[in-house]
Amino acid sequence: MHPLRPYRPDDAAHLCDIFVEAVRGIGPSDYTPEQVEAWAAGASAERFGALAGDGRKVWVALDPTDLPCAFIDLEADGHVDFLYCRPAHAGTGAATALYSTLEAHAREFGLARLHTEASEAARRFFLKRGFAVTQRRDFPVNGVMIHNYAMEKRLS
Ligand SMILES: CC(C)(COP(=O)(O)OP(=O)(O)OC[C@H]1O[C@@H](n2cnc3c(N)ncnc32)[C@H](O)[C@@H]1OP(=O)(O)O)[C@@H](O)C(=O)NCCC(=O)NCCS
Repeated sequence: MHPLRPYRPDDAAHLCDIFVEAVRGIGPSDYTPEQVEAWAAGASAERFGALAGDGRKVWVALDPTDLPCAFIDLEADGHVDFLYCRPAHAGTGAATALYSTLEAHAREFGLARLHTEASEAARRFFLKRGFAVTQRRDFPVNGVMIHNYAMEKRLS
């Protein structure tokens, strides 16, 4: 069981590490080495530091040493921008616990819809949690073509 807590500003470096580890550790199952590196290059401590101040909700899951091992976010319009888990903790229920908390929060606040742009791994994860794919998206990241899936779940 992974304890969860809200994001704190001093989590930014951990979130950056989780993002890069997750992309490099889990991404290669579905994406080429060039795509993985272009995706991983999107991480920066500044980017994750900014999450605390832009109004979104962010939750982190903790490992047995109380360090963040996974995180998820929820923007005011129901958009889920991030769901990342350290490979060492993949398949242990951390992402499931985070998603369950997010959905409960969204329902409590009356959001009608959750939506995201999911990687292949995230598509499999969200499909099992009631999301549907609305569109495949092919686009360049740092000059490399990559794809993900627009997905949504109606809550009402
Ligand atoms: C997407 C991602 C976060 C999913 O994480 P995950 O590790 O598969 O998630 P979980 O461990 O919560 O759930 C996966 C499985 O763990 C299993 N599990 C093991 N112990 C569990 C527990 N105690 N409670 C719940 N599930 C448990 C479940 O069987 C679950 O299987 P299911 O999906 O068939 O229900 C992860 O693959 C990842 O970080 N990928 C790389 C980055 C990425 O693509 N992010 C999305 C960008 S859009």
